[in-house]
Amino acid sequence: MQLAEIQQEFRERQSSFEAAYPELLATSSLSRTPPGFRDAILYAMKAGGKRVRPVLLLETATLCGIEPSKAMLMALGLELLHTYSLVHDDLPTMDNDDLRRGKPTTHKVYGEDIGILAGDALQTLAFEMFARAGVHSHTLLAFAESAGPCGMAGGQYLDIKGGATLRDIQERKTGRLIESSLALAYIEIDSPKKDKVASWGKLLGILFQIKDDILDASGTAEELGKTPGKDVRDQKVTWVTQWGMERTRRKAESIVRRLSNAAVSIFSGSAFLQSLPSFIYYRRQ
Ligand code: IPE
Ligand code: IPE
Ligand code: MG
Ligand code: MG
Ligand code: MG
Repeated sequence: MQLAEIQQEFRERQSSFEAAYPELLATSSLSRTPPGFRDAILYAMKAGGKRVRPVLLLETATLCGIEPSKAMLMALGLELLHTYSLVHDDLPTMDNDDLRRGKPTTHKVYGEDIGILAGDALQTLAFEMFARAGVHSHTLLAFAESAGPCGMAGGQYLDIKGGATLRDIQERKTGRLIESSLALAYIEIDSPKKDKVASWGKLLGILFQIKDDILDASGTAEELGKTPGKDVRDQKVTWVTQWGMERTRRKAESIVRRLSNAAVSIFSGSAFLQSLPSFIYYRRQ
């Protein structure tokens, strides 16, 4: 599939998520939340974002024959969890970022205390969506593990404290949630493919973070909707800060080739997923 074609297909899937999620939130426990708090919780969600994780969930759920309304709740759960991770990642005690999704960060608008609480609420809402979707307990467990102490949160810990390989940090802080976005549908139907999809997804997540690091070093605030150049400023260990741009690009391109080859058999039913590694690598935001 040509890049322009997959970009178009991505936008279509993104739009179906955008159209469906507000109604699902409106009928959740958010409707019983103090109004001011509701605004703070929804602020970062409404700011947009690429919606990569929900798009991946929706595509794999279709391949697995999962009912669309159930898949949409799972997709929303993933995006809420991811959005919480961004709200907390931007806090002054973490990456101290002022700009996210093209807007001032949640804590800049609502204060640090409410920023922390908004993140807490986004996280619990994520699990509420999985409960409303009625997923099996093993699916819920896989989701929790990808987000929690051994997954994203553990990766954020290592990102701050160091003492781990770059691969381990990237795999946890970004890889596990991207892995979940692809694997949860296969886990839900207990597909024999689930382990293969999970390891493919984890590597795609590493590619996603490598590209995030490349963009931090080469993109503009307008393109990214977040402040570039922060990894060097904050002395973050990334592929780019460690090995330089050229070596990082070569590494990323070899991962794209590996993933694309493997995708032909793993996702034989989806040209979209087969082209996904290139799409992730060539994205400009
Ligand atoms: C940014 O994620 C943080 C990482 C895990 C690298 P995205 O690039 O998916 O951010 P949004 O959702 O589009 O804002
Ligand atoms: C964050 O990685 C990964 C998360 C779990 C949120 P970064 O700190 O590089 O993400 P950005 O660049 O702020 O989006
Ligand atoms: Mg960070
Ligand atoms: Mg950050
Ligand atoms: Mg980054």
